[in-house]
Amino acid sequence: MQAIQQISPDLFYVGASEGRHPLFENIYPIPHGMSYNSYLFTDEKTALLDTCDSAVREQFLENITGVLAGRDLDYVVVHHMEPDHAALLDEILNRYPAAKIVCNAKTSQMITQFFHRDLSARTHLVKEGDTLSLGHHTLSFYMAPMVHWPEVMVSYDTTDKILFSADAFGTFGELNGTLFADNIPFADFLPEARRYYTNIVGKYGNQVQMLLKKAASLDIQQIFPLHGPLWRTNLNSLIDKYQQWSTYTPEEKGTLIIYGSIYGHTEAAARILANKLAVKGITSEVYDASKTDSSYLLAKAFQYSHIVLASVTYNNGIFPPIETFLLDMRAHMLQNRTVHLIQNGSWAPTSGKLMSVLLADMKGITLDDQIITITSALKPDQDFDLESLATRISES
Ligand code: FEO
Repeated sequence: MQAIQQISPDLFYVGASEGRHPLFENIYPIPHGMSYNSYLFTDEKTALLDTCDSAVREQFLENITGVLAGRDLDYVVVHHMEPDHAALLDEILNRYPAAKIVCNAKTSQMITQFFHRDLSARTHLVKEGDTLSLGHHTLSFYMAPMVHWPEVMVSYDTTDKILFSADAFGTFGELNGTLFADNIPFADFLPEARRYYTNIVGKYGNQVQMLLKKAASLDIQQIFPLHGPLWRTNLNSLIDKYQQWSTYTPEEKGTLIIYGSIYGHTEAAARILANKLAVKGITSEVYDASKTDSSYLLAKAFQYSHIVLASVTYNNGIFPPIETFLLDMRAHMLQNRTVHLIQNGSWAPTSGKLMSVLLADMKGITLDDQIITITSALKPDQDFDLESLATRISES
């Protein structure tokens, strides 16, 4: 049975959501499911904008059949070749043998890599600024390399002024019937929009900036991404967040405290510090790295200005969940943050030194060289150390 939503007289949403799979890209937890968006124009020419993940294959194919209602498919536009959008491309091409693929040269090469077919005779290559007339609607194409793969492009419907933004402006989480962002409080899905951005394209801030500059030259009235809600009002609320995230500007002054603790002594230091910050009026959030997936920690790190890492020494190294977060932070090029360290060790505390070595490698990180050392458990006179740290954070 079809699950179609008509957006305008000749544009339909034919994507689908699912909540059975626990991980996106087999790495990111998606406790609220995931949407795989796809759009179908039924203009003088019919054009499908991207396919879907194989997880929603049946629903997606039924949607297309329903919307086409016996018409043939003229074009399938491939904005992004990652299989969460292109897994069903081969099947669509088999079902609609007259359909032409509209893509750029890099995408064309990737299609061959994924499907081992020579589809050059069915491919209509486009490059920056090229247009495709569907009749009433005309699509123009803009390259968006590394947002999130090198072949990514976006398209702009010059008639209805819609930016089809590929992965950009996407969100983790399923669409529960409601398609549009203006029907959902932004605060409800901002955390998952942030976690999606930071983990999927957080590393590519410069490239996102280039895309935002291109987008600023267009009269965009709606943004339809490949994941999450569709935007038709108040676009600046998300664009402003993208400006902050892509320039690695903290959204707010506050402290993210992440601890790696085995028996609770390092955790105690983290919580006492949070108390002291609260007394000084500083917002903080405390997370146990052992129980919080690194993707959530990274999103919080993009949100706040200050980060405190409190780690036990483990096998002469950093506690592994804290090390995982640090490696994630480095991989995603997080910048413009102040980092403070607390280490614990019962006989040879080394995690502080090792964390500072990793952090010293990262661009734009201000590292507090006053590392607090706990030997097994906090001593009463270490209250002063935590108080001083809270003061340094509040004054910086
Ligand atoms: Fe949603 Fe990069 O794929």
